[in-house]
Amino acid sequence: MEPTILVAQSPEHLADAAARFCASVISETVNRRGRCSILLSGGSTPQALYEALSRVPYADNLPWAQCVVAWGDERLVPPDDVRSNQRMVLRALLNAVPIPPEHLLMIDTTLPPDEAARAYEARLQDFFHLKPGEMPVFDLCLLGIGSDGHTASLFPGMDALHEAHRLVVSTPAPDPAEPARITVTLPVLNHASTIVFLAQGEGKADIVRRVLRDDSTGQETGQLPARLVRPTRPGARLVWLLDEEAAQTLRSDQLSATMA
Ligand code: 6PG
Repeated sequence: MEPTILVAQSPEHLADAAARFCASVISETVNRRGRCSILLSGGSTPQALYEALSRVPYADNLPWAQCVVAWGDERLVPPDDVRSNQRMVLRALLNAVPIPPEHLLMIDTTLPPDEAARAYEARLQDFFHLKPGEMPVFDLCLLGIGSDGHTASLFPGMDALHEAHRLVVSTPAPDPAEPARITVTLPVLNHASTIVFLAQGEGKADIVRRVLRDDSTGQETGQLPARLVRPTRPGARLVWLLDEEAAQTLRSDQLSATMA
């Protein structure tokens, strides 16, 4: 599947355009299905999007009560730790909009890594009424990308990247001094209906070029986790939202549009 690649002039335009895009997916999905399930990413780029969604018009107009929110990954740190993705999203968005607390599918970071992964997996299975072997279908899945090609907490060369059956696993961080992580697996990401990667800044330009190069047999394919994110369900979409700096190494014929 060819991704749709959209470019905004600046990080501020990117946050606005991403908020508009997410708002249209949320509204359209709630109109059609009565509910919208959203898988959120950590990272600094999505934070600006969350802050945009927490303001008018989105705070007032979106059908937040029909939204269900889960996290793609988390660090095993106390809930009030500045490195916590859950803390970041609560502060940037969720504390400001009327999502029912029972629609926040949170990760218990006080548990040991494997228990935390299994508890979160059970929470997703229970909420989405999944039978063994079934994957949840997130209507909207937001992802960032690291300069090594990682996305969520699926890092190059780590076992978590090859997990084919579990929904959620624990994984060490690449730096052993960093806290362990909990991450949804590639099959969960690839089952989503709309997957949106967000990247901004010159520091992301090289990895964006490597992940989006249109040579699917390239040696790097299996080594760059973000290259393995490819929606598998019929009608699903893969969208990259970039600012001009992150997009600077892409060819113009790769770009779908420039966003206002
Ligand atoms: C995290 C995410 C990670 C992130 C990328 C990009 O919590 O850090 O798991 O996948 O999205 O590292 O992060 P930035 O947007 O901060 O560069």
